[in-house]
Amino acid sequence: MDLQTVLHKDKLNKEDLVFLLGLTDPQDLQAFYAAAYAVKLEYIGNVDFYRGLLEFSNRCIKNCRYCGIRRGNTEVVRFDTPREDILHMARWCYENHYGSLCLQSGERQDEAFISYVEGLIRDIKRIGGGALGLTLCCGEQTEATYRRWFEAGAHRYLLRIETSNPALYAALHPQDGHHEWQVRKDCLDALARTGWQVGTGVMIGLPGQTLEDLADDILFYEAQNIAMIGMGPYVVHHNTPIGNEVVAAGKDSPADRERRLRLGINMVAATRLYLKDVNIAATTALQALHPLGREMALKAGANILMPLVTLPRFRTQYQLYDNKPCLEDGQEECKNCLASRVASIGDRVGWDQWGDSPHFFNTLDRQP
Ligand code: 5AD
Ligand code: SF4
Repeated sequence: MDLQTVLHKDKLNKEDLVFLLGLTDPQDLQAFYAAAYAVKLEYIGNVDFYRGLLEFSNRCIKNCRYCGIRRGNTEVVRFDTPREDILHMARWCYENHYGSLCLQSGERQDEAFISYVEGLIRDIKRIGGGALGLTLCCGEQTEATYRRWFEAGAHRYLLRIETSNPALYAALHPQDGHHEWQVRKDCLDALARTGWQVGTGVMIGLPGQTLEDLADDILFYEAQNIAMIGMGPYVVHHNTPIGNEVVAAGKDSPADRERRLRLGINMVAATRLYLKDVNIAATTALQALHPLGREMALKAGANILMPLVTLPRFRTQYQLYDNKPCLEDGQEECKNCLASRVASIGDRVGWDQWGDSPHFFNTLDRQP
């Protein structure tokens, strides 16, 4: 297959995606990323949008076999950010021109949690007369809950499918009858029906995952008419079943990490080339593997950054994987650090804008 021919195709197919995802030669990668960045310039511009990321609670009813805050990890001290602190950080985002806030937590499905989040959304939407765009990332919920939170004023929801391959999904999650791939997919459908701009994503470089799986992930984004993509490399957490398996198999060497990083950037570039007008995040997991991981993703087509606004005193208790960056920083450092990263690659920040996914508005006729 010839790289230039593939890069100049109007519509890539699965075979092309597998070919691109498997590229390793530095010159090939440079041409691949440059083509993806050109598509970003055409459909989005050289502008990157911020969503302040507030990890407000690490309580979780689930036990994902890769995740550091899984229910079974008793080494984690569980926390809930006081309501006043959450509102203070939301106001900080507004005053610092972030445009949007993303509230993330472990998963809880009890009514106390649901109504608490509903109240929070209403309070946050009062700041600046509804000025802040609001994304939620609080896991699997019923359609009724998604509707309540949407009606309270949030409008974007992130729920990663983790992998579009149900067999691989089953290997990553406990088989206790409470964690099914189909349930996750049904949640994505319910979110679309209730009017949300829907985001999803996968982990990249998982044990047992093939390039075909990753190409299928991109086709899955298309089939679900996904507006926003948040995906990143799998990163080992030392106190998890998958982390232990990967380390015991000798699969966490510097070369393995480099491969997962490269695959992560290749996924960003291939997704930009294939889907064109979606929002794609340069996720923090990229930076856990390389200090410049996020800049590389922006240069390969990503257009969203999520600076941490989690309270500094809780940052160490929200570690989904090892080497999470920015643990020592406060929100001011994260703001300035990311702004210089954006400038370093020739982009600018879309201050004060929600930066919604153009894809959502370009496909309103296809929303359920
Ligand atoms: N490595 C990379 N990403 C992880 N996540 C959870 N654990 C890990 C890990 N060890 C991701 C999952 C989840 C999101 C909140 O964090 O994709 O959906
Ligand atoms: Fe909970 Fe999400 Fe971690 Fe799974 S990935 S254990 S749902 S916080």
